[in-house]
Amino acid sequence: MRLRPVVAGDLGLFERFSVEPGLIGLDWSGFRDAQEVGRRFAKDGYLAADGGRLIVAVDGSAAGFVSWAQRLFGGVAPHWEIGIALLPDWRGKGVGWRAQAMLCDYLFTHTPAQRISAGTHPENVAEQKSLVKAGFQLEGVIRAAEFRAGAWRDGYLYSRLRDDPAPDPSL
Ligand SMILES: CC(C)(COP(=O)(O)OP(=O)(O)OC[C@H]1O[C@@H](n2cnc3c(N)ncnc32)[C@H](O)[C@@H]1OP(=O)(O)O)[C@@H](O)C(=O)NCCC(=O)NCCS
Repeated sequence: MRLRPVVAGDLGLFERFSVEPGLIGLDWSGFRDAQEVGRRFAKDGYLAADGGRLIVAVDGSAAGFVSWAQRLFGGVAPHWEIGIALLPDWRGKGVGWRAQAMLCDYLFTHTPAQRISAGTHPENVAEQKSLVKAGFQLEGVIRAAEFRAGAWRDGYLYSRLRDDPAPDPSL
């Protein structure tokens, strides 16, 4: 498997995540303007200086995507926050943790970031395990972090620092 830039043929996949209820998982927050997908691709190919997306490609198929966005906790030096969504057929096969580990390698190689964070849901056990396998550590619970599925819900915050041990590549 590998991470590769988004091409025009991937836009249909992104549009599905915008308009198919629940396809994106627990992050489903209602219908989104699917035309934004094409506008963003035309603007920067999903590779902007402050964030982007890469396709998770497995045996030539687009299994989903990883994303990153610049965040500032305080001070002057930003960190990255990453995300991921795989199509249902590709879940539970070891793709998710590997893709997130590969994205960390990519970001630590090509940007000077010291910190990569990721948030997830208390009930998203697959993502919690996936992040730990990708070298992340749990930092804590963010109370009432997001309004989702009709209620305010807590979130779990994870991070991987540049100097944290990388996952075992033989796994
Ligand atoms: C969350 C997601 C990225 C995880 O990737 P994945 O490829 O399915 O997970 P992996 O196969 O890499 O598995 C990683 C670990 O989670 C475990 N796991 C996978 N699916 C699981 C599930 N449904 N329930 C419990 N554990 C699960 C695996 O067994 C593995 O742990 P182990 O090594 O101890 O056995 C993927 O399922 C997905 O895209 N889900 C929908 C979108 C989403 O939730 N994105 C994250 C939003 S915060």
